[in-house]
Amino acid sequence: MAQLSPEQRAAELRRELNFHNHRYYTLDDSVISDAEYDVLLRELRAIEAEHPGLLTADSPTQRVGGDPSPAFDEVEHSRPMLSLGNAFDFDELAAWHRRVSGLLDGADFQMVCELKIDGLAVNLTYENGVLSQGATRGNGITGEDVSRNLRTIRSIPLAVENAPSHLEVRGEVYLPVAEFRRLNEERAERGEQRYANPRNTGAGSIRQLDPKITASRNMQIWVYSLNSTEGVEFIESHWEALEWLTDLGFRINPKNRLCSSLGEVEDYYRYWLERRHDLPYEADGVVVKVSPLQMQDQLGVVGREPRWAVAYKFPAERATTRLLEIGINVGRTGSLNPYAILAPVVVSGATVQHASLHNEEDIHRKDIRVGDTVVIERAGDVIPQVVGPVTDMRTGTESVFRMPPNCPECGSDVLKTDEDAMHRCPNPACPAQFYELLKHFVSKGAADIDGLGERWCGILIKNNMVADVADLYRLKKERLLELDRMGDKLATRIIANIEASKTKPLPRLLFALGITHVGAEVADLLCQNFLGIAELAAATEEDLTAIDGIGPKIADSIIGWFGEPDNTALLEKLHVAGVKLTQDALPVATHSSTDIPFGGLTFVVTGTLAGFSRTEAEAQIKRLGGKVTSSVTKKTNYVVVGASPGSKVATAEKLGTPLLDEEAFLQLLESPPEALADEQQGSLV
Ligand code: IVH
Repeated sequence: MAQLSPEQRAAELRRELNFHNHRYYTLDDSVISDAEYDVLLRELRAIEAEHPGLLTADSPTQRVGGDPSPAFDEVEHSRPMLSLGNAFDFDELAAWHRRVSGLLDGADFQMVCELKIDGLAVNLTYENGVLSQGATRGNGITGEDVSRNLRTIRSIPLAVENAPSHLEVRGEVYLPVAEFRRLNEERAERGEQRYANPRNTGAGSIRQLDPKITASRNMQIWVYSLNSTEGVEFIESHWEALEWLTDLGFRINPKNRLCSSLGEVEDYYRYWLERRHDLPYEADGVVVKVSPLQMQDQLGVVGREPRWAVAYKFPAERATTRLLEIGINVGRTGSLNPYAILAPVVVSGATVQHASLHNEEDIHRKDIRVGDTVVIERAGDVIPQVVGPVTDMRTGTESVFRMPPNCPECGSDVLKTDEDAMHRCPNPACPAQFYELLKHFVSKGAADIDGLGERWCGILIKNNMVADVADLYRLKKERLLELDRMGDKLATRIIANIEASKTKPLPRLLFALGITHVGAEVADLLCQNFLGIAELAAATEEDLTAIDGIGPKIADSIIGWFGEPDNTALLEKLHVAGVKLTQDALPVATHSSTDIPFGGLTFVVTGTLAGFSRTEAEAQIKRLGGKVTSSVTKKTNYVVVGASPGSKVATAEKLGTPLLDEEAFLQLLESPPEALADEQQGSLV
C-alpha cells in the first residue's frame, strides 16, 4: 500500500475515531478496546502536534465524547465533564509526575489514588438537598437527562441532609460483575445472545427509556468528585472533599488512598493489578489525582484533559493464540453451543484454553476459521470470548466451520429455524441434555440440593441411578454409599436436601424444570398468576400472553413443554414422590420496579401541607422512587392536596385522578405496599 501523506492519514484517523466514538458513546456497542482506541488517538495527536496546520476544530482530539442520544432531554453541564490523559507504564506515570512537579515549582504534593471504574460517568445535581437531575457525560459539554433511571439506583441518595442549596457530584455508575453474569444467564436461558461485557451492558441499562429496566438491574455508583463550589469553601483538597461527601451519605470507594510519593502510587497500582479480578466490579486502571485544590487550579486543563490527573491504565486483557478446533457442547435446552479449543495462552494472569463462540452465524459474521490465529479477550465474564481472527496471519490451511448435521451426543438430526440463532438437538432424552438439566435442577435458586454438585450428577447418571429428575426422590442413602468416595456425612446431607426440596416455593420448582425461556423471573411471573402446575398446564396461549411480560415465544415454549407426554409423566412422578406442585395462595404481586414502592408513579403536590413544606413532600416521593410533576394530566397517578389547593383539584376530579389528603399521603409514605394495593379503588380522600 502506498504511504499516506500526514494529511491523508489524519483524515483517515479522524474518520475512524469518529466511527468508534459514535459506537462507544451513542450506540453503547464498541468494536475495539479502549487501548486500541487510545493508540489511534495518540497517532492523530502526534500528527497534529507535528503539523499544527492539519488540526481542525472538529478533530476527535478536540472534543470529549459522542453526541447525546435524541431519546433523552439534553443537559448542559455546569462545567465540562473532562477526560483523562493515560499512562500505560511506570515511565509514562513518572513523566506525568515530573511535569506536574515542574509546573508546581518543585513543591511537594499529595495524590489521591482511586480505582478507575469501567462504567458510565454521571453528574448528579441536588437542589436544596433533593436530587433534581442526573445526567450522562454525553460529549462532555452536553449530556443526557437520565434522572428517572438514576433514581432507581439505591446507592444514589435521593435527598441529602445538611447539603448546600446547590450541590453537584460526579461518579461512575456501573453494573456489578455478579449482576452482569446473572443477566447473561437469564438471557442464555431465554435463548438470547449474551451481552459482551459489564460496561456496555451497564451503559445500556442507564440509557433505557423504561426506568423499570434500569431498576431491575441492581446498578451501583462510586462517587469520585465534588463538582460545585457553593458552601464548600472550607474544603481544601480532593481528599477532604471525598471525606465530606462520605459524611453526606455518598458512596465513596473505601479503596481510595492518599499517597505522598510516586512509590506509594506504584505500590497501590501493583496491588490492584494483581487483585483486580477479585473486585465485584471492573476497574481498568488507577486514577491518580493531585489532591490540593489550589494546586489543581494552578495546573489547569489542556484541551479536554486536566493536567492534575492521569489514568494509569492496567494492561489490556487481550491475547492472540491459535484456534485449534471448534468443539460443541449440548446445552440443557438442546442448543448446540460451539466453543473454541485454543493453544493455551495467559490472559491477565489466567491460562485460557477455551473460549465461547456463541453460534454458527456469529462465527461466520466474524469470519473465524479453524486454524486461525485469533484475538481473545477476558471481559468481566469469566468465559473468555473470541474477538476475531488476525487475517494477516492466515496460511491458507484454515477451514470454514460448519455445524454438524447430527447431535454429537445422541446422533439425532439437528434442527435449525430462522427465528432461532441456535442449532438444537430435538431429543429430550439426549444424555447431554439430561446432564445439563440435572445440574440445573439441583442448583441454588432451583431445587437447591446442596452437596449434589456437577461431578455427582454425572456419576448418578453413569451409574443409571437417575434417568429423570424425579428419580432423585427415590434415591436411598444406602445406594449412595455404594458409590466410590461417597461418605456417610455427604450422603446424609444429600438425602436431607432432596427431602427439603419437596416443599420449595413453587416458582423455584417451576424454574428447576428447565422449560426453555422460563428463567427465574418468568417463573415468578407465572406463579403470580397460576395457583399450581396443573393450572399452568391447562393455560392457553391467550391466557399466557395476557400476562404482562409473557410473549408468544415464551407461551409457545410452555405449551409445547406441557404437551409432551414424557413431561406429563414426569410431573405425575414428582407428585407421587411428594413434591409440592401447588401454592396455597397467589403471592401479592411485587411492584415491577422491585422494591421501589413509588416506581413508575407520578404525583402532583398542590396547596399547603401542615406537616412539611412542598419541597420536603416532593423529596419524600422521590425518595421512594416516584416522580413529581407540576401539572395534572392523564398520566398523573395521585394528587396530594393541602390547604387552599387551587385549580389542580378540579382537573384531577375531571380526569378521575385519586386525591390524597395529608393524612392519606402520610399513610401512603409509611406503608406504601398496602396503600398501593388500594390504588384501584379510586380516591382515598
Ligand atoms: S475523574 C477530571 N475518577 O474515567 C477527572 N474518572 O477517562 C475526570 N472514571 O469519564 C474524571 N473512575 O468516566 C475519575 N475514580 C475516577 C474514575 C473516573 C472511572 C472514568 C470517568 C471518566 C473517565 C475518564
